[in-house]
Order: sequence, then structure tokens, then C-alpha cells
Amino acid sequence: MIRMNEHFRKLQSSYLFSEIAQKVAAFQGANPDTNVIKLGIGDVTRPLPPSIVTRFQEAVAEMGSYGSFRGYGPEQGYTFLREAIATHDFEARGMTITPDEIFISDGTKCDIGNFQELFAEDVRVAIGDPVYPVYLDTNVMAGRAGEYQHGRYTGIHYLASTAENRYVPAPPDQPLDLIYLCFPNNPTGATASRTELAEWVAYARRHRALILFDAAYEAFIQDPEIPHSIFEIEGAGEVAVEFRSFSKTAGFTGTRCAYTIIPKAVHVYDGNGERHGLHALWNRRHSTKFNGVAYPVQRAAEARYSETGKREVAELVSYYLENARIIRSEVSSMGYRCTGVDNSPYIWVQTGGSAWEFFDQILSRAGVVVTPGLGFGPSGEGHVRISAFNDREKVSEAMQRIRAAL
Ligand code: MLT
Repeated sequence: MIRMNEHFRKLQSSYLFSEIAQKVAAFQGANPDTNVIKLGIGDVTRPLPPSIVTRFQEAVAEMGSYGSFRGYGPEQGYTFLREAIATHDFEARGMTITPDEIFISDGTKCDIGNFQELFAEDVRVAIGDPVYPVYLDTNVMAGRAGEYQHGRYTGIHYLASTAENRYVPAPPDQPLDLIYLCFPNNPTGATASRTELAEWVAYARRHRALILFDAAYEAFIQDPEIPHSIFEIEGAGEVAVEFRSFSKTAGFTGTRCAYTIIPKAVHVYDGNGERHGLHALWNRRHSTKFNGVAYPVQRAAEARYSETGKREVAELVSYYLENARIIRSEVSSMGYRCTGVDNSPYIWVQTGGSAWEFFDQILSRAGVVVTPGLGFGPSGEGHVRISAFNDREKVSEAMQRIRAAL
């Protein structure tokens, strides 16, 4: 008899964005004439920048010729891309990350989801609340979450992120082992200061814990005082792993390329307290289960670091940030309190009441999709997240429709 992994039975409904997609498809089926505007999942709408497309096409052409054709590439990624990342994302901001500490992959979601399998089943896990649901769901699948009771899993330490702490939780009093942090935060848009991150790094060092730092939205940071990387904090190179992506910056949500930074000085411990390099563990896992990102995709990603590529990506980021400002201004003028915006593509709106009811109301009355805050954690109740990833005209129209609907 083939037995199932019963931890899957503890998952709540379906994956958040799949559940929304099903609701939207049902609504669209019943209302075929409504032009639904999607400000739900953070999926980019602007096309790939021209310099990236050119390099992508050239690399595809290389794959069509003897001499430049390539078969399997290195699972960890081609050196040209790893070097470009080390130089432009880290060295340029005063950090030392070597190219071989960077692993190229097809997505931050996959890397973050897969990463938890490197750790013992009984490690104590701390997860932001609200936050990107992949951290929680993958730990539920792995059997670390305990039972689901009253909207929470008994085995997870929820780091409440509310207006009271400016959506930046402080380290708890008790020791925890695996800590997920996401800044700029998805969904609240909050950013963490140098001091706040330094407290987390000190905590991790004190407890021999590990921070998994999701920096997928770092390119949206405009305030020069806010760190873009956990590795800007002294000592983080021994207790943190960072996840980054080309999705929201260079428009790669459909092209797929991301990267994970694992400094060689980060260690995990076996049952006897002996240290093992985390880099080697992930390298073993990655080379066993992953065959690398397509060569043309990696060349396209590399083009993001040329002078033209940098300018084009900065224009994309500014475009979405301007959408975010428009949304904030409209939603605020309707009387709602919101956060995010200045350094993030997400607007976190306090609606009060049931988040799913607000979602249903906006969808049925305005034909606009937002994301119910409860889908990001229990503290997300009474909120919705509005994504700035769409074309300007659609964002403006969505705001007009929401105003009329409410
Ligand atoms: C989101 O909307 O939170 C993200 O786009 C989902 C993702 O990146 O997987």
C-alpha cells in the first residue's frame, strides 16, 4: 500500500494564489463580459527590457550552432552570471560574496520551499505573520508545523507583524532555530533598518540559529539608509542565507531565474553538536535534484548588469513604484490606512472585517482582484494587499472602479 505523506492533510485549503486564481476563473466564467483587472499575485506585466531580449536571442542563436551549442550546464549556474551578481549586487555595495557562494536557480519560491529539507524535522521555526505563504506551507508539508488549531499551527512560532511594531517583529525571548525574514516585506511592504536586522543577526549568533532572508524585493528600496541585503550586517555571513530573484526587477516571472547566496562560513549542527558547512549540504542537494537554468536565460539575466540593462531595470522599478504611489493616494483618499509603497511594490491596506469578504466584494462589484491578507497569516485578517504590478491605465481604472464600488 502506498501511504501518503499525511502532513499534507494539515495544509489549509489550496496554495493562496491558486485559490485566488480559481475564484477569479469562476467569477470570469459567470461574468464573461467583465474585464477583470488583476492586482492580486505580484506578476509583472511590462515586457523584458530590450537589452535583455537582445542577449536572450543571441544566446538562443548560439544554441543553434555547432561550436557554441551547450548541453548540461553547471547545476550551480554559469560562472559569468555568478561573477556578475557578486560584482554588481554585493561588491558594489561593500559586501564580499564570492561567485561560488551564489547558486543560480529557476526561482526564489522553489529555493525557499526546498531549503527547509536541509534541517532536522524538530528544528523550531519562526515565521513572520503575515508573510509570503511558501515558508509556512513547506514546513507544514515537512511535518514541522504541529496541529492546526484556531487559525494557527501549534509547532510554528508566529512573529506578529502589526502596525504596533511597524510590521517589523523583534527577536523573541526564547531560542528558535530557523528564522524566515522577508524585507522589503511581502505583503506589508515594510522594510527593516540596519539596527533591526543587526538584532536578528545577534540573536541568530547567540542561539546558533539560521536566518533565511528573502530579499526578492530589494531593488524597490529607495531609501539609502535601508539595507538591501542581510550581508550588509556584520556577522550575518555566518548565520544567514539570502534569496534573490530577477522576477520582479527584470521582468523574469515567466522567464525564470533567481539566486541564493550561501556564505561558506554558515554552519549547521548534527546531533552531537558537530558543525557542517551549509554550503556543501545545499550544493549536494542542488546538484542531485537540479540540472541548472537554461543557458540563454542565464545570459539574459547577465544582461541586466550591463549599463543599459541597469538603466532599463531601474525604469521598470520606477514604473511600478509610481503605480504604488497612485494606489496609495487613491486608497488613502477613500479613507483606508495603508503601508508599504515607498520601498515596495505592495500596498497593505487596513480594511477591517473579513479579508476574504472584502476580496469577494471588490471582485464582484469592481471586477478587481486583490489578495486577502488572511492568506498571508492570521495577523493579515482585516487587511488586503494590492499589487502595483500592472500597466498604468489598468491601475488607474482599477482605482476608479474600486472607488465606485465602495
Ligand atoms: C506574490 O504575489 O506574493 C508573489 O508574486 C508570489 C510569488 O512570487 O511566488
